[in-house]
Amino acid sequence: MPTVGDLQPEWQVPPGRMEPLPWEAARFRDMSQNPHLPEAIYRYMIAHNPPTDPLVDELVTETAAMGAIRSMQVGVEQAALLGFMVRLVRARFVVEVGTFTGLSALAMARALPEGGRLLCCDISEEYTSVARRYWDRAGVTDRIDLRLAPAVETLQALPRTRSVDLAFVDADKESYIVYYEELVPRLAPGGILIADNIFMNGLVVDEEPGQIALDATAFARHVQADPRTETVLVPIGDGFSFTRLRDS
Ligand SMILES: C[S@@+](CC[C@H](N)C(=O)[O-])C[C@H]1O[C@@H](n2cnc3c(N)ncnc32)[C@H](O)[C@@H]1O
Repeated sequence: MPTVGDLQPEWQVPPGRMEPLPWEAARFRDMSQNPHLPEAIYRYMIAHNPPTDPLVDELVTETAAMGAIRSMQVGVEQAALLGFMVRLVRARFVVEVGTFTGLSALAMARALPEGGRLLCCDISEEYTSVARRYWDRAGVTDRIDLRLAPAVETLQALPRTRSVDLAFVDADKESYIVYYEELVPRLAPGGILIADNIFMNGLVVDEEPGQIALDATAFARHVQADPRTETVLVPIGDGFSFTRLRDS
């Protein structure tokens, strides 16, 4: 297993940063969050992506200390991509299904323009209390609406208008199709739906995939066959799918 000391080659460290950060040690100890990329390429990507800030580093480190559950957190590269997407589509209303300790929400909330809103759906007071602490410190609490309830209830209560500029789905895998069916009719023109864990740690191609991977494959087939939308799968982290409405 790599240690902090393994993170020394110069090309791995962005200019001006000669020491690896604590979260890097935490992240690289557990490559299970990035099972589809060779470790050296993952390190290269992290080293050349926009650098994370101390708040993100602290959130990753605190979540890593929570034990195996830490693998639920998106990778910092995925968080960066989510923020990038919020800016790319100039999102004003974002919906997140599955918030946990708040890293993906933090990245998206920070990327919102003045007046933008992020609706976060989760059922865990315990996990999201960590998230709220970091959102407060980042100064983004006032743009986040956290609803603690089964996400399907929160989504069904939204007006059936085309108002969602970006949706990010990262919760219980057996409900992905339900979330998708609630969110697609609410996608704004030009809106994007992103879903995480499309490859289910590689189990989707395992001879004995297990129910959770079968659910992931059912979702992939469902979206691929949907005539209303176009979807591409992207191997970042454990796999994102990107769905957009077809031009009518
Ligand atoms: C993979 S984690 C989300 C990770 C998060 N996006 C991040 O960046 O750290 C999944 C989250 O979904 C939540 N969840 C599970 N079932 C849910 C449900 N039925 N409705 C809403 N949230 C749910 C869990 O409490 C957990 O916090």
